[in-house]
Amino acid sequence: MNSPLFFTTTLFFSLLLSLPPSFSDLATDRAALLALRSAVGGRSLLWNISERTPCAWPGVNCSSNPPQVVELRLPGMGLYGQIPPNTVGNLTHLHTLSLRFNVLSGPLPSDLSSLSSLRNLYLQDNAFSGPIPEFLSSLTNLVRLNLAHNNFSGSIPPSLNNLTRLATLYLENNHLTGSIPDLNSSSLVQLNVSDNQLAGTIPSRFSGMPASSFLGNALCGGPLLSCNGTGKGKGKKLSGGAIAGIVIGSLIGLFLIVLILLFLCRKRRDHEVGSKDEAAMKKGDIEIPHEKSVESGVVDSLSSALPAVTVRKEKGEGNGGGVGGKNLVVFGNMARTFDLEDLLRASAEVLGKGTFGTAYKAVLEMGVVVAVKRLKDVSVPEKEFREKIEVVGKMDHENLVPLRAYYYSKDEKLLVFDYMPMGSLSALLHGNRGAGRTPLNWETRSGIALGAAHGIAYLHAQGSTVSHGNVKSSNILLTKSYEARVSDFGLAQLVGPSSTPNRVAGYRAPEVTDPRKVSQKADVYSFGVLLLELLTGKAPTHALLNEEGVDLPRWVQSVVREEWTAEVFDLELLRYQNVEEEMVQLLQLAIDCADQYPDKRPSMAEVASRIEELCRSSLQQEQDSSIDIVNATQEQRD
Ligand SMILES: *[C@@H]1O[C@H](CO)[C@@H](O)[C@H](O)[C@H]1NC(C)=O
Ligand SMILES: *[C@@H]1O[C@H](CO)[C@@H](O)[C@H](O)[C@H]1NC(C)=O
Ligand SMILES: *[C@@H]1O[C@H](CO)[C@@H](O)[C@H](O)[C@H]1NC(C)=O
Ligand SMILES: *[C@@H]1O[C@H](CO)[C@@H](O)[C@H](O)[C@H]1NC(C)=O
Ligand SMILES: *[C@@H]1O[C@H](CO)[C@@H](O)[C@H](O)[C@H]1NC(C)=O
Ligand SMILES: *[C@@H]1O[C@H](CO)[C@@H](O)[C@H](O)[C@H]1NC(C)=O
Ligand SMILES: *[C@@H]1O[C@H](CO)[C@@H](O)[C@H](O)[C@H]1NC(C)=O
Ligand SMILES: *[C@@H]1O[C@H](CO)[C@@H](O)[C@H](O)[C@H]1NC(C)=O
Repeated sequence: MNSPLFFTTTLFFSLLLSLPPSFSDLATDRAALLALRSAVGGRSLLWNISERTPCAWPGVNCSSNPPQVVELRLPGMGLYGQIPPNTVGNLTHLHTLSLRFNVLSGPLPSDLSSLSSLRNLYLQDNAFSGPIPEFLSSLTNLVRLNLAHNNFSGSIPPSLNNLTRLATLYLENNHLTGSIPDLNSSSLVQLNVSDNQLAGTIPSRFSGMPASSFLGNALCGGPLLSCNGTGKGKGKKLSGGAIAGIVIGSLIGLFLIVLILLFLCRKRRDHEVGSKDEAAMKKGDIEIPHEKSVESGVVDSLSSALPAVTVRKEKGEGNGGGVGGKNLVVFGNMARTFDLEDLLRASAEVLGKGTFGTAYKAVLEMGVVVAVKRLKDVSVPEKEFREKIEVVGKMDHENLVPLRAYYYSKDEKLLVFDYMPMGSLSALLHGNRGAGRTPLNWETRSGIALGAAHGIAYLHAQGSTVSHGNVKSSNILLTKSYEARVSDFGLAQLVGPSSTPNRVAGYRAPEVTDPRKVSQKADVYSFGVLLLELLTGKAPTHALLNEEGVDLPRWVQSVVREEWTAEVFDLELLRYQNVEEEMVQLLQLAIDCADQYPDKRPSMAEVASRIEELCRSSLQQEQDSSIDIVNATQEQRD
């Protein structure tokens, strides 16, 4: 019995027993986290299972003494399904739980009642349903409770009065009914119950709150209309006429509802039929130009991909001239470097599908590499096309991808650009998120933001009606040294409305109705979304989250400012703590750009100069801290 195995086993068990209780807390927490992850499809949670403690896992934060999981923040991680008991409910020391912007559904698990230390509970923007559970009232440490934009029903429990520290209660956009209870906690300063089915009188102590906290209900009093102002007949018997009116009104209402339902059913059917195409389009969104994709592949030569393009030998036939009468029009000093024949002979490779068509990488015989974009759905007549593309060809700025040549015929329209070897910002941010990814640091991100801002500001400086029209991260291409080059400017005006579809919806300013008419202020909005994307690492067209993607401005604005650092920034960025101030400032700038009202957005020139300031200040910070290190080492030597 004194085999080495016996000895080791005894040692193991005695060690296990002698572990302090807090360590076993951590083991319990770890098990609960893993159970949660497997229950809610957390494929995107890059947790290193080989680590014994969960404290370094993204989204998890522990207290140091005793070591326990105290924060769990998994916003916008594409989590879906129900939260079963014995998962989050086992993390009994949590003080912050954020699962906002996921697709979680079903009722809240009842064992959340054991999270007695919980101070912040952020569950907004999910699909949770059922009543607001009574047990929340036993979490007496709650300060912030956000259940907005879910599918909660039933009434607001009056027992929430037990939460004496509650400062924020957000319940907007649910299906709550009944009246607002007389919540009399003196700490409650932020309340929003708008867009529910509440009725009755707003308690008088909320009369100082903004009306927007209550809109979209059948409420009266408080900041809204006084309850007795409108209903003259209140308390009196209804007259025959009034009853007839109500009956007729209800019938019309019913008819309208049936009509809407019919319309929705039909739409759904269409949607199901179209969903395959849509899925393909979604993929297209990710397969933006310059990003290697599943569909990418080597085509023998460009001519095999473009059978409709032929070299016209007869002189004078080439409308628009170009080199040697062939209808490739070459801009600037690129003339004579290559012609249409060279281009068609080039070996080609599909780079991806963009908003305006497929892009190819073409390697010409003399070694020159270009990107050829094949436009689809060009809606303007030839003359207008040539005029507009000439304007695009004249744009000359170090942060723009230069257009080198174009080809126009009835069947094919091609644009020839410089090839950008490092692909797009979208690919850099969202591609290869797994292990082995090189984190994208603040310096690179802010540098890209600055370059892109300069490029767009240059376009805007060409005239008050000149805009880019399609600002998004897949149109920001990168040089070898990660400098930004803006591409695809001026193309939105050439194509039909059908080919600028929903895929840009995440970037589109709310006032834009025709994608061919995008103002400079709408460009600024899109640029704001792009900045948010750089800072959060989230794509506004994140297919995992829901069909429409994330409304990034709302995603950020649903978080109170004090929580920005913990909740909003890309975890990769949080490693650079010394530039937190600059990150917050850039986030504020992004929010300013993405203002709902065009007039409140800054101009692109102002945006560029504000980013420049930020970059300078973070550079300064870096130098200061390296000086500190030098000083420190000198002190040590002295
Ligand atoms: C959660 O806690 C319960 C009771 O303490 C325990 O039975 C269960 O195994 C725990 N679940 C996990 C996943 O750790
Ligand atoms: C996971 O953790 C183990 C143990 O700490 C470590 O050796 C390994 O390198 C980690 N893996 C990754 C991908 O970080
Ligand atoms: C909302 O909840 C109700 C039940 O409360 C359910 O019938 C309905 O399907 C839910 N809707 C969504 C969109 O989850
Ligand atoms: C609210 O507090 C009262 C007394 O403080 C207690 O009796 C009641 O059970 C609490 N309600 C809930 C739902 O926790
Ligand atoms: C608050 O309201 C509850 C009932 O909703 C009542 O029991 C309690 O006494 C009130 N507290 C204060 C301070 O008015
Ligand atoms: C309340 O929520 C609605 C809907 O999300 C929003 O429009 C409104 O601005 C909010 N009001 C306040 C005061 O938070
Ligand atoms: C309407 O209500 C207010 C209090 O909200 C009251 O002072 C006023 O007398 C009422 N007017 C009528 C006509 O009932
Ligand atoms: C983790 O928690 C500690 C203390 O609660 C806090 O100071 C720190 O900022 C948190 N870290 C993150 C990344 O949220």
